[in-house]
Amino acid sequence: MKKNFVYICGNIKYILPMSGMNLKLKIWRQANNKAQGAMKDYAISGIEPDMSFLEMMDVLNEKLINDGDEPVAFDHDCREGICGMCSLHINGRPHGPDDRVTTCQLHMRKFKDGDTIFIEPWRAKAFPVVKDLVVDRSAFDRIIQAGGYVNVNTSGRTIDANAIPIPKKDADLSFEAAMCIGCGACVAACKNASAMLFTSAKISQLDLLPQGKVESQERALKMVAQMDAEGFGNCTNTGACEAECPKGISLSNIARMNRIYAGAAITEA
Ligand code: SF4
Ligand code: FES
Repeated sequence: MKKNFVYICGNIKYILPMSGMNLKLKIWRQANNKAQGAMKDYAISGIEPDMSFLEMMDVLNEKLINDGDEPVAFDHDCREGICGMCSLHINGRPHGPDDRVTTCQLHMRKFKDGDTIFIEPWRAKAFPVVKDLVVDRSAFDRIIQAGGYVNVNTSGRTIDANAIPIPKKDADLSFEAAMCIGCGACVAACKNASAMLFTSAKISQLDLLPQGKVESQERALKMVAQMDAEGFGNCTNTGACEAECPKGISLSNIARMNRIYAGAAITEA
């Protein structure tokens, strides 16, 4: 039921309906990696439909701080769909009910007054909870460190990268793979907690360009080995990763990675 807002001006009393939505939030609270976590209930009101999901979380935290309670820890940075930091599992879906948007670009107009919203962290062995809704995604960094780069000759006699002609189709495919923001929604969506969509996007963006071909096989072997060492699961072709990826990274990148990996394994044998 909508609450009323009472406003008294002189001897006139106005009773106005309070604007914004009233929501029930069920949020995962966990003090640290060792502590037992649990869902906790919160009520929040005055949420405008044009607020972003993270702004709604800010309103909640302001209320919690004013009430002397511990604010909810959650990750965010750019709030523009670029950095990949925001990582909330909302009503059972990574980044919530909208397709092709990150949590920071999700708006409250996707919800209705009176809704109950479940908010959880990414759930994967390789992404341990740090606190509340924050998980440690440094496993992704270590996969990149294992081979997600191009070694460049810096002797001074290097050809400018832009001087190498690249077919438009390859440039476009490389760019599409490079749109991966490393958010980890693919892992959170996958029943096996597989990181193959992420790893294959990072391999593809380099492998599709001439500069990335030189270390192609070595890169695939090292990055896949690191991916396995971090405890991510295997791909069983359910496609949940592609469906939930906010950047629409294609499963065809996994097929490309598998081809490169198979070739590398034969060469190595
Ligand atoms: S592949 Fe998509 S879901 Fe996975 S990390 Fe990259 S952007 Fe996020
Ligand atoms: S906060 Fe940067 S992508 Fe959401």
